[in-house]
Amino acid sequence: MTTSPSSRLLNTSELKRLAAADVFKGIFVVKSLIKKTDKNGRPYWEITVSDTAGDLGAKIWSDAGWWDRSNLELENKPDMLTDAQVMDLKGKTVGITGKVADFRGQLQYNFNGISLLNQSKFPPASFVAHSDVPLPVLLQRLESIIEGCGLEIRNFLKFVFSGERVRAFGDAPAAVSNHHAYAHGLLEHTLTVTECAKIIAAAYRDSYPSIDVDIVVAGALLHDLGKIESYSMSPTPEITLAGAVLDHIALGYSTYVRLAGEAGLSDSLRMQIGHILLSHHGQKEFGSPVLPATPEALIVSSADELDFRLFCWKDAVKDLAPNQDISLYHFAAQRRFWRTGGGEEKGEG
Ligand SMILES: [Fe+2]
Ligand SMILES: [Fe+2]
Repeated sequence: MTTSPSSRLLNTSELKRLAAADVFKGIFVVKSLIKKTDKNGRPYWEITVSDTAGDLGAKIWSDAGWWDRSNLELENKPDMLTDAQVMDLKGKTVGITGKVADFRGQLQYNFNGISLLNQSKFPPASFVAHSDVPLPVLLQRLESIIEGCGLEIRNFLKFVFSGERVRAFGDAPAAVSNHHAYAHGLLEHTLTVTECAKIIAAAYRDSYPSIDVDIVVAGALLHDLGKIESYSMSPTPEITLAGAVLDHIALGYSTYVRLAGEAGLSDSLRMQIGHILLSHHGQKEFGSPVLPATPEALIVSSADELDFRLFCWKDAVKDLAPNQDISLYHFAAQRRFWRTGGGEEKGEG
């Protein structure tokens, strides 16, 4: 049964709960738009849109309407978008109407109306995902962690997390996909890893009294430093050229070495913290040139992996239907995830 158009705008998460033949409308930011040609020579588009709830992939067939509603004066009699305007939609806010289809047993989202909106009235940056934790709260947590360190590392971390660098760190995503791929995601991930690493270090303190908590903290706060050069929000997370060809471990280590030199960090600290940056992915096949070789590096690498996997779990189960307990296969985490008891709690939804 075809559902009549909902008067309510749906977000990407709500869209994923619709059934075949349901129609929908929403406001999203275009993350990618690729023009292709079908078997009969007709053009179609593969589009990915984003909003604060996540991303959604969809198809746009040749009979879709492309409208220019960017001029508020002409809102009730829009022109058709030109080809040049269509190819320039990436990063812009659009109004969408569409319908869910069943394609070989899988739900497919077809957009049949795409309207370029006024970008001042619908600024793209406010329609893309960001951390659930407000930036001032994240920055307060960062300051409090740094204040808890001894003098030499405290001064070094204050120097690193200052000015334009801390502003860029606060804005950046932690990834383009898979984990914390939204504004302020790098800072949220970094703080969780650091707070978790401190707790692990405290748990091992009596059995391993040589563990230096300040080195754990510095290594954890700086482990993904290179991501401020690897990713940008424009306005959705994107990888930079430097990120693609040099990657965040090499970028972060080179920035760290320069800053450690400028700050006059002692040779011993410089190498121990540098070792954490280079080894934090835990395995050479995951991009680390060396494996964690100190208790401090093992702790940071473990906390980083835990935060990544926990995020994958949250992301995999968030759109499960009430009667589903097991997620689809999660490629980045190489497993399906289980939402224990989720179905019963949400049975009425
Ligand atoms: Fe990393
Ligand atoms: Fe990380």
